[in-house]
Amino acid sequence: MNKELSIGLIGFGCVGSGLYEVLNKSGLIQAKISKIVVKDRYKRRSIKQENFSYDVNDILEDETINVVVELIDDSEQAFEMVKRALASGKDVVSANKKMIAEHLDELLELANSNNVSFLYEGAVAGSIPILRNLEEYYNNDSLTSLQGIVNGTTNFILTQSNYGIGYADALAQAQELGFAESNPTLDVDGYDSKYKLSILLKHAFGLTVDPKELFNLGIRHISPHAVAYAKEKGYRIKLFSRAEKLGDKVVGFVAPHFVKSDHFAYSVNDEFNAVILEGLFSDQQLFVGKGAGSHPTASAVLSDISALKFDYKYEYRKVDADSDLKFSNDFFVKVYIESKYIEAINEVPFYHIDELFQSDQVNYQTGWVKFSELKTFDFNHREDLSLVILPEVLKETINTEKVANRPLLETLYN
Ligand SMILES: NC(=O)c1ccc[n+]([C@@H]2O[C@H](COP(=O)([O-])OP(=O)(O)OC[C@H]3O[C@@H](n4cnc5c(N)ncnc54)[C@H](OP(=O)(O)O)[C@@H]3O)[C@@H](O)[C@H]2O)c1
Repeated sequence: MNKELSIGLIGFGCVGSGLYEVLNKSGLIQAKISKIVVKDRYKRRSIKQENFSYDVNDILEDETINVVVELIDDSEQAFEMVKRALASGKDVVSANKKMIAEHLDELLELANSNNVSFLYEGAVAGSIPILRNLEEYYNNDSLTSLQGIVNGTTNFILTQSNYGIGYADALAQAQELGFAESNPTLDVDGYDSKYKLSILLKHAFGLTVDPKELFNLGIRHISPHAVAYAKEKGYRIKLFSRAEKLGDKVVGFVAPHFVKSDHFAYSVNDEFNAVILEGLFSDQQLFVGKGAGSHPTASAVLSDISALKFDYKYEYRKVDADSDLKFSNDFFVKVYIESKYIEAINEVPFYHIDELFQSDQVNYQTGWVKFSELKTFDFNHREDLSLVILPEVLKETINTEKVANRPLLETLYN
């Protein structure tokens, strides 16, 4: 089957205008953008004003339009539009990770009951075709872990830190180059990475995990001392959206990680994204590419549109296949915790301490902590605490009791 596609495009910003260009330039896909709806009638556009309308009903109530491509920057409004589009029997393509992460199951139910497709490859890792690969290729392989650098802004800032450029300057540079939002909280505090992790958990492990349940720590408080520690040990720092199987559970979180030079992610720099998958039989595989931007993201949207010609739908086969798997925050992880204040470090319960360092400028401690206890700290808002995950594997259990806290450092250095 090679279905005729008549597209209603909502949003003509970075990705929407990119889609218009790639669709016209590629000539590969016979699909027609019939209507474009935007918000601001006074904005200057790259194409003639007569191409636009300003009422979303012009698309949603047009029975000749069979595909809605939603590319707006407001997740709540997008949710309402996408629901109406699916309910009226139109296929939908979106790149709105926040909306998808927060409402996926409801949208899927609606898509299924109306026998239409809901595709969103552009929502995770931009141009990298990770969702379709998780759906199609990894269906029969038993996937054990996933580590993603899925936010270009933070990877750019972390890369700059290797050249001695501080957080504020690197962020300003990212904003100048157009990678970062003017309000960068979603990027730098790991929210964007968390929405993407929630979507990845569904396709990789068949799990629905509300983003509110997922721990997200970004890169705002990574200090020059942590960067120096990384250099001294031969590591680099990367912000990972990470999920893996531990026994019959799946664990997942977003946090900065030290990675060794032999890790696939070590050389993924600047605004590039990467996803590293590990399967029982396939071992490790690396997907790398541009994770954002007008044309790279539009290329993923275009690929979804192309798949609609053949009525492609995600099948979510892992949802049924791995029904015993449960999401959990119950595991141990090895961390580096740094602060100017010993008392702040001592607030974090450790089960085993490997390294301690104390000086007038900085103190740090490395060792094993219980993730469910770590998760209770709001590190994004703790300017006095910096946390980076060390390269060791995650563990279900460790053989020690909690270390007595506060006296430990004092005893050691008195
Ligand atoms: N930018 C990227 O690299 C990237 C990468 C992956 C995913 N995404 C996702 O793609 C989506 C679009 O992002 P973007 O960067 O293209 O955003 P953007 O540049 O800010 O553009 C947003 C567009 O949405 C339109 N819009 C907003 N509210 C609307 C409404 N109520 N009705 C009609 N149009 C409305 C705006 O209209 P006006 O032009 O009239 O203001 C604008 O054209 C977001 O969900 C984003 O998370 C973006």
